[in-house]
Amino acid sequence: MHWKNNLTALLGIQYPIIQAPMLGITSPEMVAAVSNAGGLGSLPVGNMDATAARAAIHKTKSLTAQPFAVNIFAYDIPISPEQTAFDAMQTLLQSTYSRSGLGVPVVDLKTLHLNSYKDILPVLTEENIGIVSFTFGIPDDAGLALLQQSGVKMIGTATSVEEAVYLEQKGMHVIVAQGAEAGGHRGTFMNNGLPQIGAMALIPQVVDRVGVPVIAAGAVMDGRGVVASLMLGASGVQPGSAFLLTNESMASGAHKAAIAASTDTSTRLTRAFSGRWARGLYNTLIAAVEESEIQILPYPYQDALTQPARKASKAQDNPSFVAMWAGQAAGLAKGQISSGDVVRALIAGAEELLPSLKVN
Ligand SMILES: Cc1cc2nc3c(=O)[nH]c(=O)nc-3n(C[C@H](O)[C@H](O)[C@H](O)COP(=O)(O)O)c2cc1C
Repeated sequence: MHWKNNLTALLGIQYPIIQAPMLGITSPEMVAAVSNAGGLGSLPVGNMDATAARAAIHKTKSLTAQPFAVNIFAYDIPISPEQTAFDAMQTLLQSTYSRSGLGVPVVDLKTLHLNSYKDILPVLTEENIGIVSFTFGIPDDAGLALLQQSGVKMIGTATSVEEAVYLEQKGMHVIVAQGAEAGGHRGTFMNNGLPQIGAMALIPQVVDRVGVPVIAAGAVMDGRGVVASLMLGASGVQPGSAFLLTNESMASGAHKAAIAASTDTSTRLTRAFSGRWARGLYNTLIAAVEESEIQILPYPYQDALTQPARKASKAQDNPSFVAMWAGQAAGLAKGQISSGDVVRALIAGAEELLPSLKVN
């Protein structure tokens, strides 16, 4: 078993270590630091408009000449919820903000603008992006055709074997198998359910059913997680939480402190922030929404409704209303370290356990 494998050859990278795209956390500096260290940085542009996505791509290109991936949220925007349901959730949230002394602008459902991944796809081809990863599903057939014609390598996210098999049939070149311990949103896009399959169970079952390279996501924090993932049949790893405390992370000081203090039991799956299941640290916003009897709005409406509070809370370095996405092993994250050093530590730790990795 060597570092160089089918995945590194396909993506043109030195090490099969992919930094997870983390919207709101991953900066262009993080992406560049990872790619410059021989891994693959992933730039998240999910829910951005085309102009913001292009600016983030330009910034990243200015920092690295190495390949990097761009990550998008590939889902169809559902019909708007009833005004009464929107108002009920907004009233609950506003009263919670006021009790904490946080002034948050009201969101108007009628003028709410939601960005679609479809606006970003042409930007990706115009910018000659060679690797694109998806979560929440994949683009429609027209979108897939556009990327295929441009020779883009596509990475889909699966949280079950059924999703992985579907992604391969639809032409994904690589599949991320995201275990239930992973931080952030579940990539789930089938059956409206909540697949809670842990990475240890998911990876070998996905590997047995698909022919394309599989990337393991969920609780890969050091060399042990890298080697374990490779032993389970994965061709690479996609850690996210391992980068939360890095110098290039956009998390605020209080947010980083909460992650650093987290333990194996600190995270939970919640729909409170966005309407989609996601794993993060418990805080005031989650408590208020979950303890109320009020219906959570579908994604991305709940997400749009909580955005202003997340921004205001972050500006005050108050983590009460910030979505602190983190995996079950986030407590192992190292702080005051560059993202490049995280990659180098993953490589060195894995090589110590499995010296044959070095031999090519
Ligand atoms: C803060 C945070 C934000 C995330 N945002 C995204 C995202 O924008 N796109 C995506 O595909 N995955 C996202 N994820 C999920 C990661 O791709 C990955 O599955 C996860 O981080 C792996 O688990 P780990 O955090 O235990 O390493 C996010 C994860 C975290 C922790």
